[in-house]
Amino acid sequence: MTDRYAATAGAYDLMNAPWRAVQVVALEHLLPLLQPDAGPILDVGAGSGVNIEWLLERSPDAQVYALEPSPAMRALALSRIAAHLEWQHRVTVRPEDFFAATLPERLGGAILLGVLGHFDPGERAAVLAELADRLPHGGAALIDLQPPERPEAVPAATISRTQVGELEYRLIAEATPIDDERLHWRMTYLSLEGERVLTEDTAEHIYHHPGPDALLAEAASVWLHAERLGETTYWLLRRA
Ligand SMILES: C[S@@+](CC[C@H](N)C(=O)[O-])C[C@H]1O[C@@H](n2cnc3c(N)ncnc32)[C@H](O)[C@@H]1O
Repeated sequence: MTDRYAATAGAYDLMNAPWRAVQVVALEHLLPLLQPDAGPILDVGAGSGVNIEWLLERSPDAQVYALEPSPAMRALALSRIAAHLEWQHRVTVRPEDFFAATLPERLGGAILLGVLGHFDPGERAAVLAELADRLPHGGAALIDLQPPERPEAVPAATISRTQVGELEYRLIAEATPIDDERLHWRMTYLSLEGERVLTEDTAEHIYHHPGPDALLAEAASVWLHAERLGETTYWLLRRA
């Protein structure tokens, strides 16, 4: 089985660090809208489990139902839980993807961060419909639309780097447009001693960039109100 996130998992939290503070501000908007009494909080594409941890620490009544199909990313999430075994009855981490998993009938809220772009337009419509169907009245989901808003060439550039002990970890990203919704992304993960490359791993993804107008229309078609959080890439979806 090919794990498309194997290279990404190597230093995921380290490379994601520059964006984490803004992500946390977005999560703080979601927190008061969660309804843990209505059902578990669905975390689609839970990744390293960073948002599972954030939620379990701040919402003592919340149960989390996480989906993470990448074995490498799922291992990171499970390690995080292993460090907090007091959470073992509050969280489930399923290995299926969104369409293979049996979703809880009712949800208390949902988190879909860094994942919506993995769905094509038909899948995106189905994801939104499933959320609308399962969220309670006034229930909320946090999503993001990863930049650029619409497909455009992204020249290769270092977008994240950090030093840990003697080694530097570096992420280089570039993207090429495929059509009016999709970009072909190439992410290169390096570990270096000085300028000597010790490891180099590449991940390639086709990612969808539907833009705000399409998102607003698609959400509205299933009675979800989409509200952008300031000038950020984060959006709250609320069920009417
Ligand atoms: C960029 S990571 C984001 C991880 C985490 N949500 C975060 O914000 O740090 C995207 C994650 O979505 C997962 N993913 C991709 N396609 C998916 C699908 N169809 N259903 C569920 N998860 C998926 C990937 O395995 C990956 O771990």
